[in-house]
Amino acid sequence: MADAASEFEIIQKIPYADIPGFPTTGVKGHRGQLSLIKDANKSGLLFEGRFHYYEGLTMQQVTAPVLLAYLCGVRYLLLTNASGGLNPSFEIGDIMLVEDQINLMGDSPLRGPNDDSLGPRFPDMTEAFSKSLIKKLIRIAKEENLPLHRGVYVGVHGPSFETPAEYRFLRIIGADAVGMSTVPEVIMARYLNLEVSCLCVITDLGVEGRTVQVSHDDVLKESSKKAKLIARLYKRLLHEIF
Ligand code: HPA
Repeated sequence: MADAASEFEIIQKIPYADIPGFPTTGVKGHRGQLSLIKDANKSGLLFEGRFHYYEGLTMQQVTAPVLLAYLCGVRYLLLTNASGGLNPSFEIGDIMLVEDQINLMGDSPLRGPNDDSLGPRFPDMTEAFSKSLIKKLIRIAKEENLPLHRGVYVGVHGPSFETPAEYRFLRIIGADAVGMSTVPEVIMARYLNLEVSCLCVITDLGVEGRTVQVSHDDVLKESSKKAKLIARLYKRLLHEIF
């Protein structure tokens, strides 16, 4: 998410275009750079701008940052995204901590021959989102006086937003928020045995009677308002997990 980087000391910035084999992203509002960050003797990688399946990339290309992070020794994947709210108790601008996900993207980054040196052919997904990270984030949010919803994220293909009937369907199958990202990265991360957490900014509502027309600009505007807040939560989490 743009602006999250300002919370951390940046050691080095690397444009995605300078990383061999990385796709270049063309989506407005998604910056496309990797920063090596440092905070109180802890170091990490901050990816600003992700790759989306709807751009026409393969799932393997979409998840290239996760594989790169793993190969650099990263053990935790802390994700953010912009999502449409499906739960009627949600408001635009709310934040949801993801407890589980549904893959409706019709593909997986693990499709194809498996490299057994990286992970298993049939990875377990019973704890896609780390229970221990969820517990810590709930406590940190309470201490920061930040209301936090919890729920299920459903990943769809896009790039069109949902029709009212599709929003209704997604709610019926058990989702609280919908978006066009995250699911591939989580599958890849669990395959590589990384611990995962995800915070969603609710940028629009797909709730019957309260659904309004949504544009990409609305989504960017709402999500950038919350970027710093999320970065602060994750910064505190990082202090606790190392
Ligand atoms: N649907 C799908 N993806 C989204 C939405 C939505 O309503 N909002 C932000 N990303």
